[in-house]
Amino acid sequence: MYYMNKFRILGPKKLKGKIKISGSKNSALAIIFISLLTEKPITLKNVPYIQDIDIAIKILTKLGVKIDRREFMKIDSSKICNKFFSCSLIKYIRASIWLLPAIIIRWGSGELLLPGGCSIGNRPVDLHIWGLKELGVKIKFNRNYLKIDSINKLIGKTICFNKISVGATITVMSVATLAYGITIIKNAARDPEIIDIANFLNKLGAKIINAGESKIIIVGVKYLKGCIYSIMSDRIETGTFLTAAAVSGGDVLCYNTCVSNLKIVLKKLQFTGAKITYGQDWVRLNMIDKCLRSVNINTAPYPSFPTDMQSQFTLLNSVSNGSSIITENIFENRFMHVAEFIKMGARLKIKNNKIICHGVKKLIGNKVNATDLRSSISLVLAGCIADGITVVKNIHHIYRGYESIKNKLNSLGAVIECI
Ligand code: EPZ
Repeated sequence: MYYMNKFRILGPKKLKGKIKISGSKNSALAIIFISLLTEKPITLKNVPYIQDIDIAIKILTKLGVKIDRREFMKIDSSKICNKFFSCSLIKYIRASIWLLPAIIIRWGSGELLLPGGCSIGNRPVDLHIWGLKELGVKIKFNRNYLKIDSINKLIGKTICFNKISVGATITVMSVATLAYGITIIKNAARDPEIIDIANFLNKLGAKIINAGESKIIIVGVKYLKGCIYSIMSDRIETGTFLTAAAVSGGDVLCYNTCVSNLKIVLKKLQFTGAKITYGQDWVRLNMIDKCLRSVNINTAPYPSFPTDMQSQFTLLNSVSNGSSIITENIFENRFMHVAEFIKMGARLKIKNNKIICHGVKKLIGNKVNATDLRSSISLVLAGCIADGITVVKNIHHIYRGYESIKNKLNSLGAVIECI
């Protein structure tokens, strides 16, 4: 069991102030693993201090990679010693699937324990496997391992995914950088993190064109060099803190962030009645003395509404005026926060992949359970705005993806303590 695995939160509090946004969890995780595609030294800036990154560092260190985090993150994978990727930590994070490119490119063969991740669905990897087979990789399931056998020469080709997958797009795009000839990925994920990862690979000497579009072109190169790269800011952390301002009737400015990849979230927040202003690398949401309106949400692949903001908007609709519907189209088990909000007085009803929300004036503090990363932050925000004391159990999930979250929220006026 985790020590001090609960947050005790006193509400209601209006959250006001400035927050420095950390580097993107999902971009940093992918970049750290695919950096093994080159033996040359890599320096990464703006890598967030979160648990998933710590686990990634532990996995790579077990493989013989030298990682120094004193100032920036310096990665030296010139002396990797192992190719049986079986350390149990691999099961803890979804991102460990991005060891596949290194196994394929550096060794040509190996076995990778199947990755884990938040329990928001069964998280298959069939699209990763299908895409790699299209490039000529011999890969198959072997119980709970992926077995990569001797590799023929990787030949680029046109690969059209039948379903949009962020992870599989990253896996195929990375391996294709060192395949022979041209690879075209159709129906690719268009997320800003894909652009960030392509920019990183291009700095290593790859030739990736149109990342961020649904058709990505990769011209294979012979080798990749080292580089210094700064990770993009975390758009979901930004959206989370703006939602915190909206639900608490507060006023929060997020800086060291990027507004252009949050368009749909900002549009939805404006619809709730919030006043939003922004500049080059900052965005502010003011909800003081405003009435929060409910808003319908349909999660879908980028640039549509992000599934990683769904639980935050479930909270918003729980305490806003009016009724609304939230439809989750990406993951099959991403409603675990609903029962917990109901314990706090929310009027929510699940119908298939929809949450029917009827806003209530206020939530009441209670004992609730965190079950995954995004539901845990939403329960903490619920505690910040509820009347009385809320205790969130199993809070360890939150440390996976939110850097210094207790201190950041307390700096805005929240009253949170670990117990
Ligand atoms: C990435 O997960 C993110 N994780 C998720 O963020 C994010 O919610 C998700 O993309 C969608 O945007 C990381 O980047 C580490 P997918 P990923 O492949 O790559 C199905 C967070 O909270 N699918 O885009 O696993 C899958 O089941 C996390 O930060 C297959 O069927 O997501 C889902 O229904 C949660 N076969 C859909 O596709 C596959 O081989 C989209 O998944 C792969 C995915």
